[in-house]
Amino acid sequence: MGSRLLGTGIYLPGDVLTNNDLEKLVDTSDEWITTRTGIKERRIAKEESVLQMAKIAGEEALKNSETDPSDLDAVVVATLTPEKRFPSTACLLQAEISAKGFAFDISAACSGFLYALDLADSMISSGKANKILVVGVERLSEVVDWSDRSTCVLFGDGAGAVVVESSEGPSQILSSKLYSDGKLWDILYADCDGFIKMKGRELFKIAVRSMEEACREAIDEAGLNPRDIDLLIPHQANLRIIRSLAQKLGIPEEKAFINIEKYGNTSAASIPIALHEAIKEGRLRRGDNVLLTAMGGGLTWGAMVLKY
Ligand code: ACO
Repeated sequence: MGSRLLGTGIYLPGDVLTNNDLEKLVDTSDEWITTRTGIKERRIAKEESVLQMAKIAGEEALKNSETDPSDLDAVVVATLTPEKRFPSTACLLQAEISAKGFAFDISAACSGFLYALDLADSMISSGKANKILVVGVERLSEVVDWSDRSTCVLFGDGAGAVVVESSEGPSQILSSKLYSDGKLWDILYADCDGFIKMKGRELFKIAVRSMEEACREAIDEAGLNPRDIDLLIPHQANLRIIRSLAQKLGIPEEKAFINIEKYGNTSAASIPIALHEAIKEGRLRRGDNVLLTAMGGGLTWGAMVLKY
C-alpha cells in the first residue's frame, strides 16, 4: 500500500510587492534582485492570517479532491510562522474545516512540505491513516527584517495544500530521502520573536550540493534515471540554484517548474504552490514522474520522486 496526491489548492495574498517597491525601502535595485535571484515580485499578507491562508488553500484542495473534511484521518501543516505558539496551526485548521482524526505541525523551514508529505506517505503506508490533508503555509513578511536588504528581497507569503490518499494503483510516491544537519543551524535561522538571519553565500553552495545528492538518491531508489523525470519541482529559493541543480542532474531547464519571479521564496508553501500551478497549467499530467526537492533552515533538505 502506498499513497498518491489527489487534489491541490493554493492561496496567494492579493498585495504585490515589486522589486521597484523595494528600491524605496532599502539600498537595492530591480537589476540586482532579478539577476541574483530571479525574483520580480512577491505577495504580502496584509490582512490575511496564516490560518486564513491555510484554510482557503486546504478547502480548495479538498474540493479538487472531491473529499469531505469528515473523511480526513489527519491534518498536517508545515510552517515556520505558526498562527500561535500553541495549539498547532493544524489543530486550528482542523476546527475551521471541521475535520476528524488528529492534527499537528511540522517545523522544517523550507523543507517542511517535503517532510510533511513523507510523513503522510508513511502514515498511509503503515495503515494508520487513509486520507491526509497536507498544507504548507507561511507569512514570512512578519519574520523578515524590512531594513536588511540581504534577506528582505527574497521572501513572500502564501499557502499550498494537497490531499494525499492510499493507493494501490500506478500513481504512488515512489521514493523519499530526508536529511538534516543541526550543526549548521546558524547558517539560517530566526530566534523566537526575531527576524530571519542568513549566511546566503554559504547556503547557496550547500543547497546545490545537498539537493543534488538527495535527488540522485531518490531517483535511484525509485528505480529511475534523471532522463525519466518529466517534471522537476524544486523549492523556489533562487533561480540560479534551480538552474545549477537541473544542470548538475542532467535535467533540461524546460523540465523544471519555475514561478519564483511571481512569489519569491515562500518556504514551506513553495512546493505545493508550484505543484498546483503545474497541474493547472497542464505541465503535470497523471502518469508523469515528478521530482520534488527542497533545502532550508535546520539545515534540512530532501528529495522525493512520485508518479503523479
Ligand atoms: N541589493 C543590492 N546589493 C545587495 C543586496 C541587495 N538586496 N543584498 C546583498 N547585496 C550585496 C552584498 O552586500 C554584497 O556586497 P559586497 O560584495 O560589497 O559585500 C554583494 O551584494 C554580493 O552579496 P552576496 O551575498 O555574495 O550575493 P549572492 O550572489 O550570494 O546572492 C543570495 C545572495 C541571493 C541570498 C544567495 O546567496 C542565495 O540565494 N542564497 C541561498 C538562499 C537559500 O537557498 N535559502 C534556502 C531556503 S530559505 C529558508 O529555509 C527560510
